[in-house]
Order: sequence, then structure tokens, then C-alpha cells
Amino acid sequence: MRLNYDTPFAGPALVSSMAGGLKGSEILKIAGEVRAMKAAGRDLLDLTVGDFAADQFRIPAELAAGIAQALEKGETNYPPSNGMQALREAVVRLYARELGLEVPVEAVVIAGGARPIIYGTYRALIDPGDRVLFPAPSWNNNHYVHLLGAEGVPIVVGPESRFLPTPELLAPHLEGARLLSLCSPQNPTGTAFTKESLQSICELVLAENRRRGPGGRPLYVMFDQVYWMLTFGDTQHFTPPGLVAEMAPYTIFVDGVSKGLAATGLRVGFGVGPPEVIKRMSDIIGHMGAWAPRAEQVATAQFLDNVPALTAYRAKLREGVQTRLQMLYAGIEALKAKGYPIEAIPPMGAIYLTIRLAAHGKRPNFGDPLKTNDQVRRFVLDHAGFALVPFQAFAFPGETGWFRASVGAVGPTDIERGLVRLEAALKMLR
Ligand SMILES: Cc1ncc(COP(=O)(O)O)c(C=O)c1O
Repeated sequence: MRLNYDTPFAGPALVSSMAGGLKGSEILKIAGEVRAMKAAGRDLLDLTVGDFAADQFRIPAELAAGIAQALEKGETNYPPSNGMQALREAVVRLYARELGLEVPVEAVVIAGGARPIIYGTYRALIDPGDRVLFPAPSWNNNHYVHLLGAEGVPIVVGPESRFLPTPELLAPHLEGARLLSLCSPQNPTGTAFTKESLQSICELVLAENRRRGPGGRPLYVMFDQVYWMLTFGDTQHFTPPGLVAEMAPYTIFVDGVSKGLAATGLRVGFGVGPPEVIKRMSDIIGHMGAWAPRAEQVATAQFLDNVPALTAYRAKLREGVQTRLQMLYAGIEALKAKGYPIEAIPPMGAIYLTIRLAAHGKRPNFGDPLKTNDQVRRFVLDHAGFALVPFQAFAFPGETGWFRASVGAVGPTDIERGLVRLEAALKMLR
């Protein structure tokens, strides 16, 4: 029987006001459009999706084999709602070994990727109307704020701080805030906190919590470090409690294998934080059924403990990503040196490069001048097959020409060819 979904009710009456007002991912919208162009045969450098292409970066072979073996052994039922004990213990060992952070196993929860950990953090901490501070640009905080009916306070950051929030920018907004959302290395900018800056932010958070006193509700930091295994050159990864031990009760780490093991489709994420909050998060994740699949959990636990394999894989992935980011950065700087209106911020981590295309006011072949970031995006997409995401997709205001380029799905020769096409297109601007 073909179901007929016609109804006399319409629009807002059909869903909750929250669902009615929820925006889909702007990134995925742009990426979908780019995919369609590619399918139609266009030569494109697709720098849009924050993902890896399997023909560029594979998950570790040992991990893939471990999943197959776990399935073979019948690891196909529900996992415990807070995660498999073996994986939680492997995360404890990983944090001690690699990050110098010792936590009890009760501080770890496993979920189906980092997203349910973020949602669980917001859900466990935020009441409607609570204030959530997040940098603009940042990834998806605006959407999680909407889901929770929170009051979002975007802190607009700029190139002078490599698009990271600074203690000076945050200080005036901490009073009364419930959650400070930080990410390092950061999506969309590919930049990471310095030790000094993160340490000063931690001191401010602790001062605010002291001011509130034991009768108040604390200010928490959600520290999204899904890209911590991907830092380049001299960049070091720092964590709030690693720098200031007193931050432990107020820090919830968001983590997982999606980025560090190029395994976005496996859906294995971890949250690490104060056990009382983590317990509530695992109840929320349990009710959502947002567990990581059991076989993936078993295999991830084994892989995280296989130190030689993990070390070798990390080095290879890091080198592959860094090569691509450096090529793109060097190419853009070369175009800048030739006088084109383009620049980039040196990459520090993750899979992203921040690019500025200041083509506003310029006329493509004496046509109408480009006015908005979206018109600039369209111009380089149509004329150079160079696909970028404007910072507006990350809640960043203003038509100032800032874009994210993601290199996980492109190869070095694709980048070379894309840069040649980009120069040809920039030549068309008067
Ligand atoms: C900063 C950040 N956190 C979390 C996630 C989500 O990760 P997952 O795919 O594991 O849900 C992403 C994905 O792009 C991300 O960029």
C-alpha cells in the first residue's frame, strides 16, 4: 500500500518549535552541491567536507581486521550503555600514556562518535536559557545551543588570534555562563591554543568558579580535542587539566577515533570528565541508544593498546595530512606573492586551512562585482573547480572573505591542479 502523507495540518503545527527552527548543516548542503557537480563530470578540488576519502586515507589495517574478527566471534549484541569496559580502560591507558592525564575508568563514556558526546555534554549540563560561550567561527555549537534552548553567546574571533578565543575576549562574558565550548586543534581553522593562552583561560574559569562559591552552579569547559593526534611542526597539544590541575572537575573532553584514525564512519567516540557528569551523560546516551557498535568497540580497544601499530599509523596519517596542508598553504602564499587577493593562516593541526579570498568588489571579466562570501565561493567553484566553505557556515559574521579548506579527501596532484585553475580564475578578476 502506498502511504498518503497529506494532512490538513501545516508547517509549524507538524513538529516542535525546536525542530521547526533547527537548521540543517550548511556544510553538508554545500558539500552535496559539490558532489553533484563532480558526479556530472566537473574537474573539482573538493575541499568542503571535514572527512577523509578512503582512496586517500584508510583506517588502520589492524583495526579493520579487528572489527572483522569481533563480528566473526559474535560481538553483535548491545554493548553496555556507558561503553565496553575494555575500551574504557584502553582510553584510560591512552590518556595516561599520551596526554599525561590519569583518570579513573568511571571518568570515561563511549558513544557512537563524538557528536553524541557533545550532545550528551550539553544535555547533562544545560537547562533552557543557560548561557553557552563559543568562539565564532566554531563547529556546530550554534546548532547544539538551539537543540537545548540555551542562550548562545558567540565570541567573534579574528585572524589576530588565529581565530581562537583569547582570555581578553572571553573575560567579559564568563559571569553567569554555564558552559565554555573550546576546540583545539580547531575546526574550522586548523589552529591550536598556545600553552599561555589556554592556561590563562583556565585561570579565568577557576576564578569565576571561586567567585560563585560552593552554593552556585559551576562554569564548565567542553574541550573538544577530536583532532589532538593531528598536530604539525612545533605545535604541541595542551589540555585544560594538563595545564591547570584544578580544571579537572570542570572539564569534559570530547574525543574519538573519527579524525585521529581517519575513521569517521566507524562511529566510536569517547567523553572523559568528572564521573558524576559522565554518569548522567551515559544515561542520556543510553536512552538515545547512541552507542558505538560493539564490534568496533572491541577492535578499537585492542588497537589503542597496540602501541607500535598506533604510533606508526599516527605518524603516517599526520605526514599525509601535513603534506597536503603545506602544499595548499604554500600555493596560496605563492599566489599572494604574485599580487592576487588571497592569503592563508599557517596550518597547525586538524585537516583544515583557513584561507582569505578578498575578492569582494572585484569584477569577474568586467561583470557584476562580487559582493558576498557566497558569491566569491561560487566564483572560484564555477571558474576554478575550487570548492570551499565560507566561515558563515560556522556562525562567523561578516562578508570578509574567510573560508575553510579541508584536505582529507584530496590528493597532492589534485591540489596542484586546483591551484593552477585557481590562478587562472583569479586572473579573470579586475
Ligand atoms: C571539532 C569536531 N568535533 C566533533 C566532530 C564530530 O565527530 P564524529 O564524527 O565522531 O561525531 C567533528 C566532526 O567534524 C569535529 O570537527
